[in-house]
Amino acid sequence: MKKLSLYRYLDSTGSFRVDDACQQGSVYFPLVNEQGLMSSISPDLGGDIKIDQHSFLTLPVSYEDLHLSRAARNFWLSFHPKGSVKSKKAHWALNGRSVWQRAQGKDHVHMEAGPLWQRVVRTNKTWGLEASVLNFVPSQEVTFEIMMVEVKNISKKSLSFTATSAIPLFGRSADNLRDHRHVTSLLHRLNKEPYGLSLRPTMTFNERGHLINNTTYYVLGADGRGHSPVGLFPTQAAFMGESGDLERPLALVEDKKAFKNISEADQGKEAMGALQFKPVTLKAGEKTSFVLLLGIEKDPRKKLPVVPIPETVYQWLDNTKAYWNEKLGTIGFETGDPQFNSWIRWVQCQPILRKLFGCSFLPDFDYGRGGRGWRDLWQDCLALLLQNPEEVREDIVHNFGGVRVDGSNATIIGRLQVAGKWKPEFIADRNNIARTWMDHGVWPFLTTLLYLNQTGDWNILRETVPYFRDALTHRGKRVDASWRIDSSRPKEQGSLLEHILIQTLVQFFNVGEHNMIRLEDADWNDGLDMAHARGESVAFTNLYGGNLAALADLLQTLADNASWTEVKVAQELKLLLDRLENRVDYERAHEKKNRLENYFQTVARGLSGKQASLPISELARDLREKADWIRQKINQQEWVEENGHAWYNGYYDNKGNRVEGKNTKGQVRMTLSGQVYPIMAGTADQGRIQSVVKAVDKYLFDSKLGGVRLNTDFGCIQPELGRAFSFAFGEKENGAVFSHMAVMYANALYQRNFVKEGHFVFSSLFKMAQNSQRSRIFPGLPEYFNNEGRGRYMYLTGSASWYVLTLLTQVFGVRGLKGDLLLAPKLTPEQFDKRGRAAVSVRFAGSEVRVEYVNPTKKSFDKMKIRDVRSDGELVEYFRLSDREVVIKRDVVSRKAQWNFEVVLE
Ligand code: G1P
Repeated sequence: MKKLSLYRYLDSTGSFRVDDACQQGSVYFPLVNEQGLMSSISPDLGGDIKIDQHSFLTLPVSYEDLHLSRAARNFWLSFHPKGSVKSKKAHWALNGRSVWQRAQGKDHVHMEAGPLWQRVVRTNKTWGLEASVLNFVPSQEVTFEIMMVEVKNISKKSLSFTATSAIPLFGRSADNLRDHRHVTSLLHRLNKEPYGLSLRPTMTFNERGHLINNTTYYVLGADGRGHSPVGLFPTQAAFMGESGDLERPLALVEDKKAFKNISEADQGKEAMGALQFKPVTLKAGEKTSFVLLLGIEKDPRKKLPVVPIPETVYQWLDNTKAYWNEKLGTIGFETGDPQFNSWIRWVQCQPILRKLFGCSFLPDFDYGRGGRGWRDLWQDCLALLLQNPEEVREDIVHNFGGVRVDGSNATIIGRLQVAGKWKPEFIADRNNIARTWMDHGVWPFLTTLLYLNQTGDWNILRETVPYFRDALTHRGKRVDASWRIDSSRPKEQGSLLEHILIQTLVQFFNVGEHNMIRLEDADWNDGLDMAHARGESVAFTNLYGGNLAALADLLQTLADNASWTEVKVAQELKLLLDRLENRVDYERAHEKKNRLENYFQTVARGLSGKQASLPISELARDLREKADWIRQKINQQEWVEENGHAWYNGYYDNKGNRVEGKNTKGQVRMTLSGQVYPIMAGTADQGRIQSVVKAVDKYLFDSKLGGVRLNTDFGCIQPELGRAFSFAFGEKENGAVFSHMAVMYANALYQRNFVKEGHFVFSSLFKMAQNSQRSRIFPGLPEYFNNEGRGRYMYLTGSASWYVLTLLTQVFGVRGLKGDLLLAPKLTPEQFDKRGRAAVSVRFAGSEVRVEYVNPTKKSFDKMKIRDVRSDGELVEYFRLSDREVVIKRDVVSRKAQWNFEVVLE
């Protein structure tokens, strides 16, 4: 049988083993902790270590550098082969990065990894040595990565060797790669530490100016008995020598004596963490070890850490494994496929990784400076809140502080440490280059709605939150030159519900010439960024329409479940609630635009502070009329029919031309986003969904790759639409199998009960990722798969959050409904185990809930009914919404700390 995987799972925690780790050129792995120490590491110990954009311990690494760069975590053993001192010394690099090993290829290397640690084991029978290198970032409050090397004599004779670490230090801002790389090395000041070397540059030079530096970078080490290194080579020049390099360092080749001290001559040079240890002799079968700490300390008052003994390292490793396992175990999926059960743990880890890494700092993500985009911030919360709603409540409230009164939002989101926790920090656009993404207003409400359904915490909507204000007004189209930061002025604020209303209502009026919402500087697809003037996104007009309808439903729920009768909003908002007074003719795009302009003018200098009290039913009526209008308009105007197929148009370009359908050369153009949102938002009825599915299968499904592409090949660049089409077709936002949109497509299909179709798309992504001989990635979901089926942009992708959301709330159908627990399974027969069982464990209403579906005859969704729900054999109190949906009231769930609901399907 064809071997489909480069790794195999070792246990149910997601740990895996790679049998031949020499073959893995460009795979990498994340190591991180909550203190913000972030590493990437490849099987040959490449990658980098940093704390933020301005503090890199090692050279910043992009994907290509994983194999191009020689700067890695090198560790050498030097010895006389076969014990004869007359023989020429051999030098064995424990990461395989030496000219000799590359030439001979005699090492056998395997790797094991798990959340979040990596161990690479290298064996060379000729030398009689086996070396294992373990790397992880301890979960406790430290800012270093540990590297522990263990060497075993696997020969029958005694062996002696000298060990030398060789970790080139960068010790500065990533900006300095192409901004005074040499000059900033002149700032380097090296100190010999009792257990190694520290580097404390005198100053930092970057966009923030010339500042006194307080950050210390270090490489410390000890052998297994706690002995300090006996010497060091403190600079790259000293270690490599004139004609050497990192793969053939002359310090070792010429057997140079390690330095006892650092001299003046070593200052102002590129630093090297080359620590040399006392020579070791191992009898047959004996082992020894070395521990290194590779770290960054930002607090100048703090002492550098003590290098732990191996027993302590193992203790920390156990703690770190336990820490991650607990985090990833908050939702436990048990399907009939053990491979999937292990793989999904990595997908569950990804939203946490993006929270810690931001959208930068792993080798594929060689852009950004550690912040997260607005939509990413909100969508990551989807999975995080399913794991722990109480913790995410605070984040939701805080994040609304990024909304402006014109419905746009702060776009650069950095992070601040407040009381030991990382909080998003909203920053005005860098250099005042305003960009407004038109989709940004949909995500906060979608996330908040999930939160409300999971918790029934209606009061969150009454929380008062500030508005974000800077010089930009009119959704970034104008600048208020008189605006100044004035901390004495009270911040404008409003309820969280008011923030949501503003984001949604403004967009209803913000239309282009086809009466669809303007594309502005792009929508979800960042690559549709060249149609500022006349572009329109029908795709997201759908989703705003869906949100308007869902908001109207929510208001009804507030009236029914929480006895709300009225809602207080800023007086100015009444301008956009035109169904209450002063109606706008929605068919006339210019009337809408005028009304919006009027609103923008009114709020440009801030809200008056006056409030209006609106009856909840009136407000709901206004919103519902708007939602209905959008649904009808799109169905009547945006349905495309070509070649016997029919689907929705998703866009208008900068010339006002419709994007989808046949172009002048007769080629069919179609986008997946254009189809996902009419399904998700309820615009499309069942008949139209069927047509869309057929058209997607015809034009976007690639049978060779086994996945659905983001768009058809438009054939040439599209300066009237966006940069995406300048990428090679099949890469990134130009027609790749883009996981995020594919998952949202599956989610939309499940939501509308197209279970077979949804499952097909949903499982295709798992299959593509898991086919690692082709995808060349470790377990997890990448941002996209290219034409070769390679997974790119690993770990830090929003698709992971949507994948977990879809699996839990749609496939398993376990989710909150107005605070109660809904069970509405949409599993397909192959997702049950041999006994016809599939289960998920989750926290709900403060209790640990395990839901086990029992489907002994493996009925398919359309033939399946819920017979009953039991716990310990006893019937549970529940009520039915339909044959396939039951609800258990929140107070019933919270009666017991642990539940095991058995749901029998027939
Ligand atoms: C990335 C961005 C996301 C954007 C998408 C399409 O997706 O993070 O904000 O919507 O590209 O341009 P991700 O890497 O999250 O899958």
